[in-house]
Amino acid sequence: MTKKTISKVPDHVAVIMDGNGRWARQQSLSRLEGHKKGIEVARDIVKAAAKIGVSYLTLYAFSSENWRRDQQEVSGLMALLKYYLEHEMQDLHKENVRLRVIGERELLPTLILTLIEEMEELTKSNKGMTLQMAISYGSRSELIHATKAIAEKVRDHRLNPEDITEEVFEKHLYTSGIPDPDLLIRTSGEQRISNYLLWQLAYTELVFIEKFWPDFTSEDLMDAFLVYQNRERRFGTAA
Ligand code: FPP
Repeated sequence: MTKKTISKVPDHVAVIMDGNGRWARQQSLSRLEGHKKGIEVARDIVKAAAKIGVSYLTLYAFSSENWRRDQQEVSGLMALLKYYLEHEMQDLHKENVRLRVIGERELLPTLILTLIEEMEELTKSNKGMTLQMAISYGSRSELIHATKAIAEKVRDHRLNPEDITEEVFEKHLYTSGIPDPDLLIRTSGEQRISNYLLWQLAYTELVFIEKFWPDFTSEDLMDAFLVYQNRERRFGTAA
């Protein structure tokens, strides 16, 4: 299948890049080698998505739960993130990509946080695809963060409880201002959401791919788009 047959490109694609560890084990490599290959694939997929006209791409790069992994793996992932932000983002800036990071930033090492802030600032006026990276991200914690912010406004009489609508709630999420994903892709055969964008995925089409993330290609991305365009989305309304 080729991209020529794609007539409906999803505006916002969210991805769970799963299976780096299992891919590495299959190849008798270290888990970190799996993540290294994963980052190369992420680079290709970001470029392919931007090229075909995706407006927003959200990648799950590091979850809140990932902090509990072996220290060596966590520091390896942080080093890869640093590399990505320092090198790949410069390239993506040239391609007009805007970076935005969602997650509990305060938990990140200062160096990574500074790089994120620099790259968000550098790319903030770019008009191409928005690359939203979920780093130290967990959806339940995002929902609690939003609820606390709303509760404080109510306490301080800056918001009436009757005025809390879906739109108001959305404005307090890390993803504020970004439309909900049209398509979620998860690799590695697992069919779970894993604390990812729980609010935002309410009406998203889910596509699960058997391949591990390091084996995922831009061709697989196009195949997922074909599956998406053949789905009928009714957003809870009658047929
Ligand atoms: C899941 O594989 C993947 C991750 C924990 C993180 C994803 C990270 C990358 C692709 C590299 C960094 C990417 C960017 C864009 C900076 P797993 O380790 O859970 O695999 P397993 O389930 O097979 O063990």
